[in-house]
Amino acid sequence: MLLAASSLAMQAVAQALPPATLTIALDKPALHAVSPTLYGLMTEEINYSFDGGLYAEMVRNRTMQDHDWAGLARWDVVHSGDAAATFALDRNEGPSAALQRSLALTVTKADATNQAGVRNEGFWGMAVRPSTTYKGSFYAKADSSAVGPVNVALVSNNSGKPLATASSQPLTTEWKRYEVSLTTGAKVETSAENHLQLTVGHTGKVWMTLVSLFPPTYKGRENGNRPDLMEKMAAMHPTFLREPGGNYLEGDTVEERFNWKTTIGPLVDRPTHRSPWNYQSSDGMGLLEFLEWTEDLKIQPVLAVYAGYSLKRIHIEPGPALQPFLDDAMDELEFVTGNDSTKWGAVRAKLGHPAPFPLTYVEIGNEDWFDTSGSYEGRYAQFYKAIKAKYPQLQLIATAPLTRMKPDVLDDHYYKRADEFFDMVKKYDDADRNGPKIFVGEWATREGSPTTNMGAALGDAAWMTGMERNSDLIVLSSYAPMLVNVNPGGMQWESDLIGYDALTSYGSPGYYAQAMFAGYLGTEVPATSVTGGGTRFFTSVTRDRAKGMTYLKLVNASNEPQAVQINLSGAGTVVREATLVTLSGTNPAETNTITAPTRIVPVTSTIKTAAASFTHTMPPYAVQVLALSTK
Ligand code: AHR
Repeated sequence: MLLAASSLAMQAVAQALPPATLTIALDKPALHAVSPTLYGLMTEEINYSFDGGLYAEMVRNRTMQDHDWAGLARWDVVHSGDAAATFALDRNEGPSAALQRSLALTVTKADATNQAGVRNEGFWGMAVRPSTTYKGSFYAKADSSAVGPVNVALVSNNSGKPLATASSQPLTTEWKRYEVSLTTGAKVETSAENHLQLTVGHTGKVWMTLVSLFPPTYKGRENGNRPDLMEKMAAMHPTFLREPGGNYLEGDTVEERFNWKTTIGPLVDRPTHRSPWNYQSSDGMGLLEFLEWTEDLKIQPVLAVYAGYSLKRIHIEPGPALQPFLDDAMDELEFVTGNDSTKWGAVRAKLGHPAPFPLTYVEIGNEDWFDTSGSYEGRYAQFYKAIKAKYPQLQLIATAPLTRMKPDVLDDHYYKRADEFFDMVKKYDDADRNGPKIFVGEWATREGSPTTNMGAALGDAAWMTGMERNSDLIVLSSYAPMLVNVNPGGMQWESDLIGYDALTSYGSPGYYAQAMFAGYLGTEVPATSVTGGGTRFFTSVTRDRAKGMTYLKLVNASNEPQAVQINLSGAGTVVREATLVTLSGTNPAETNTITAPTRIVPVTSTIKTAAASFTHTMPPYAVQVLALSTK
């Protein structure tokens, strides 16, 4: 028995990780500055990121674009008592040139008590909360003014009872926009199991479209965003938003590209378009909304412009054929940055945003290495020449390596498993410093679904240590995809960062790892060396002289504790009390979910043993930040 115990102890000793020594030379010149834009966000319409996600609209298929054999998707007929109605898609009736179809409701029997109409199921339900006001609106016309008003109600799926009601002005025989305000009572239960109902109490025919319902939005913006998701992004300390894609920028075909001019202005003038992720985009999240999103987070856009390549391997030849697309991009840059004396700056001002937006980086296309025709060299050069002539200060990002010219910045994408990222941590250590700067515009450890697990967070964190260490070369980075609606059918791409349903949202462990890395980031990289340690031990050190702080990022992706001897030279004083933030799990598969959203979250504590030389022991499967006061 004794023998068995001692052999177990020996086994434990044999398995213990070799201690690591991390030496930080604060008395030597820093190796380089940290890019102030190192950490940002990337977005596109994928996984119901906007419709059914960030964009707070509650009505699904609001402009009646989705129509299948069963009728208008997400819409159904409702009636009370012996009222009767049918509905169909009318392809020839709409309120604008952009919206030329509508839901046609034919009511054959109804009165004030027994009403008939339609219901909308929302994006996997509609989140309803107590004492809350919802702004409703719709476009409608009737075949006779006798039809009267439309009665709008938020209704519980389970009880069938209305939770908030309102009536519009009486309909006329002309298309008009109607607004209603729905306020729930204090005792209404918070739930997503609700729908929207629009009914009339008179026979007749009614056409309606652009039926919309908004809850309170982030910072109260009209046509705005979900507060919980905006708050989660803000907590990641981003510095930019790469928009609008990704594949979404390119579209499957040229016609399905992100054509920014059809995404601005009143919603009734936006025709909507199909996303390459196989659903219709309402375009409620248009170019101006993207820019306002950056404004609300106090960050800059990294604007991707369509550059003549679409996903079904369609390319536009550089030269005259490409010119109209280049003209569109030039107009787009003016819309973003021009003052109101310019044509497109004036359009933006008229839409309610007189101030230009800041812009430093413009990306020419997306993943143009897929264009095997070889046209990207010429397309990039054509865009580069025109944009630099008018905006010499802009940094232009290429999305594929070029042989004939050096782009300002090159966008590299990495979708990897954790083990692959562990092996790639030093990828940029010896990279050419005379080549283009690097934007890691899409990266992710793809383990876990719909959102990533603790093992992925370890892969992410290891990879981020490499990006920080090379942040003289890597000027920008953004994880992708950021958002996923976790309802069945909501996800087109596995392993995402933030999950949600209609009611709530949560961050994956990787989300928290990123928030930690970006939240504790210095302005320069001091000279450091690491010896010993396990094969899955990774570090990065940055320093902020002005704040007198040195930030250590430590990653232990092993199942054993990792002892680290930390030696700091050149700090006058190392304050004994230091902040320690720990994100850890019991195993790599452990994760957060919509029903267990906070199983793995960072825990902040204080250690009282910091010194010029001290030992710190990391738990297994852990990402840690040590914030040392080094005056
Ligand atoms: O992030 C998902 C997709 O991956 C992007 O749309 C595309 O750029 C890449 O291939």
